[in-house]
Amino acid sequence: MSEPVVAIRSRVEAAQADDADPLAYLRARFAVPDGLVYLDGNSLGALPVGVGSTVADSVAREWGEDLIGSWNVNGWWTLPTRVGDRIGALVGAAPGQVLCGDSTTVQLFQAMVALARLKPHRRVIVTDGANFPTDQYVAESVARLLGLELVRVRPDEVASVLDARTALVSFSAVDYRTGELWDLENITSTVHGAGALMLWDLAHAAGALPVDLDRLGADAAVGCSYKYLNGGPGAPAWIYLPARLQEVADLPLTGWQGHVTPFELDPTYSPAPGVERARIGTPPVLSMRALDASLDVFDGVALTELRAKSLRLSGLVIDYVDEHLSGVEVVTPRDPSRRGSQVSLRVASAYEVTQALIARGVVGDFRAPDLVRLGFTPLYLSFVQVWDAMETVSSVLATGEWRDPRFAVRAAVT
Ligand SMILES: Cc1ncc(COP(=O)(O)O)c(C=O)c1O
Repeated sequence: MSEPVVAIRSRVEAAQADDADPLAYLRARFAVPDGLVYLDGNSLGALPVGVGSTVADSVAREWGEDLIGSWNVNGWWTLPTRVGDRIGALVGAAPGQVLCGDSTTVQLFQAMVALARLKPHRRVIVTDGANFPTDQYVAESVARLLGLELVRVRPDEVASVLDARTALVSFSAVDYRTGELWDLENITSTVHGAGALMLWDLAHAAGALPVDLDRLGADAAVGCSYKYLNGGPGAPAWIYLPARLQEVADLPLTGWQGHVTPFELDPTYSPAPGVERARIGTPPVLSMRALDASLDVFDGVALTELRAKSLRLSGLVIDYVDEHLSGVEVVTPRDPSRRGSQVSLRVASAYEVTQALIARGVVGDFRAPDLVRLGFTPLYLSFVQVWDAMETVSSVLATGEWRDPRFAVRAAVT
């Protein structure tokens, strides 16, 4: 991926980019409060307009009136595969390979154990020492559970640790702190070249940029649905299990819904055929309904167009910092092909600066110890909004308003 990025260096140019933006009409699909520049869709996506009525209907009619019959008449039972297929379409997975449910953390555990079990004579798991904590914590636990060794390495240096002992490699496609997008193709083929299996966490990639899991030949992938997929707080995650591994994968969480005949209530476990074996227990139906409705915002959207706009938005921010903000370091790669859909800025007193920006209606987030993270969801952001957000960053830094003691107060969630 190396789309040409036309720079935007003024508010006038930003307005021109908006006038020519083929995705501008998509903003109407979201209920973002007026006056807010929401740059945190990489943490919690904004609310798509259709979600409220869908969930209200699920509560009042499906649950309230149809009650238990809803598992059949309202399609609750098939939600995990139907929603899974819709997510699959956004990450390059042909139907029947993505199952929606549980949390990313649970799905990481499922995938890691299953892949490790496919390589019983190999005793090493590799992850990234800068990976999101849950990815590392689960890898530590899986290593303890299966008596494996855990090795940490930067994704672009994976070749240096691979050998005949490596069972699987588990990386995130995009570094959640720096926004660096790794070379998925090269890494996957390097890992396969060593005879190991590749697990990708697409938390910061799904719905943000084109990914082609089938073509990559990934052995498993997981992701959450509350970031760029806009599925709402606590939206169920998903797991990709390619068709070629489904019949041989021995998934550790053998819940009754993954059984071949769940309603026979057999005392011993036999997995369902296909991706349904990745079902675990009863799914969060209302959340999955919300997610299903939220995915409508992608109808008719070409991910290549989304990606092109995302790169222009992040490019605008990088250029703005270079031209206007001394003392601020861009830690996100400048090479568009190595950039996710965020820009992270290293700033002194980043926590306070983030809070001061939020008070001014520019919502990004803080990542310890010193990063202001700005995420871009091209579905609902305009170029002028992002330009104005950068003017606000400039003003907050120049005036020193972030020094107000109220901005130093730490909430439970930062
Ligand atoms: C790469 C990555 N994996 C996993 C998670 C979260 O896992 P869970 O959905 O289980 O909270 C995050 C959350 O930000 C993440 O960035």
